[in-house]
Amino acid sequence: MDVPEPRIEEPTDAVVRVTSTAICGSDLHLYSVLAPYLSKGDVLGHEFMGVVEEVGPETGSLAVGDRVVVPFNISCGRCWMCERGLFAQCETTQVTEQGSGARLFGYTALYGSVPGGQAEYVRVPHADFGPVVVGREHSDERYLYLSDILPTAWQGVAYADVGEQDTLAVLGLGPVGLLAVASARHRGVGRVIGVDLVPERLQAARAYGAEVLDLSQEDDVADRLREMTDGRGPDGVLDAVGMEAHGNPLASVAIKAASRLPGPVARSAIETAGIDRLAALHTAFRAVRRGGTVSISGVYGGMADPMPMMEMFDKGLRLRMGQCHVKQWTPELHEVLSQSADVLGVESLATHRVPLSEAADAYAMFQAKQDGCIKVVLQP
Ligand SMILES: NC(=O)c1ccc[n+]([C@@H]2O[C@H](COP(=O)([O-])OP(=O)(O)OC[C@H]3O[C@@H](n4cnc5c(N)ncnc54)[C@H](O)[C@@H]3O)[C@@H](O)[C@H]2O)c1
Ligand SMILES: [Zn+2]
Ligand SMILES: [Zn+2]
Repeated sequence: MDVPEPRIEEPTDAVVRVTSTAICGSDLHLYSVLAPYLSKGDVLGHEFMGVVEEVGPETGSLAVGDRVVVPFNISCGRCWMCERGLFAQCETTQVTEQGSGARLFGYTALYGSVPGGQAEYVRVPHADFGPVVVGREHSDERYLYLSDILPTAWQGVAYADVGEQDTLAVLGLGPVGLLAVASARHRGVGRVIGVDLVPERLQAARAYGAEVLDLSQEDDVADRLREMTDGRGPDGVLDAVGMEAHGNPLASVAIKAASRLPGPVARSAIETAGIDRLAALHTAFRAVRRGGTVSISGVYGGMADPMPMMEMFDKGLRLRMGQCHVKQWTPELHEVLSQSADVLGVESLATHRVPLSEAADAYAMFQAKQDGCIKVVLQP
């Protein structure tokens, strides 16, 4: 649908002409569980890059013609939170009506109704701080993921607090999980074990340097992870699954398996393995070693989720989570990406490149994980 062309509204605004934009696992939550927040005319998309077309009078050094990647969270760069690097909690852009953190591009009323990047042009607020100016030497796909999934993966690994002697388990090998594997390898983490059930995602994780566990072949992933780590459990576990709002294939596998069991057993199997949206998180708590760290990149939305508090407390777990503070990580990541070799393998992540006009079909394909789809890049 056509929406009005964005224009400068505030002195710190810029308008960016989008050259590449991607679909994210977070967009899939809007596609199903969070759909009630969607309104007609909302422009989705929070992973985009392009060229600065127009700048307001107070956008600092940003210039027309700059090639930029735009972080998915909108932060001012100078408030109390921003000064502490907590850019996802920016107090200037917090969505107080919803009790949410910093505004996000393309994330409906829940995050400030800011028109997103799956569009030809985008108005970028706080452009004096947000956009990351990148070089011209590499393709869009080298830099695009700086907008979200690469810093998210990087932060997830940093929060897992694992080093050269340690084992990190990554649950969920979507784009975030895969880049977490790549980031962990790059950061020198001793051993990385990836868990998913989609064959091409397991294969990709292997290529990024992980040992892998196929969820659909395991009775109990947590037990298996402990077995693989001297009975103790991984030092860190990263949940890169989230609320699985996107028709998680595990549900259908579990339901199919459960249908072969007697009635009451089947119901409890479905309740715990399939329908439980906290399946991955509970696996993380069970698998991680005592005193280890659980890092949560996956997005959770429930307010009444029951948690295994007894186990969490008894094991003395450390827990870190939250939206990525994108700008906290972009300087170091930009440096890594600017090398001539693609050391993080970001250019091999996208499996599908399609025109923006075909976005609707691309969402459906990504959600259903059809046609080996791992990451979709849209070209306006
Ligand atoms: N914290 C942030 O700032 C931030 C930023 C971007 C994305 N995210 C979130 O990260 C999560 C992953 O994003 P993505 O783009 O990689 O999504 P994705 O949906 O493509 O990947 C999720 C993967 O998890 C697998 N999975 C489902 N249930 C599982 C289970 N129980 N155990 C192991 N694997 C399981 C799925 O098969 C899938 O491959 C989403 O929840 C997304 O919203 C968070
Ligand atoms: Zn995203
Ligand atoms: Zn701020």
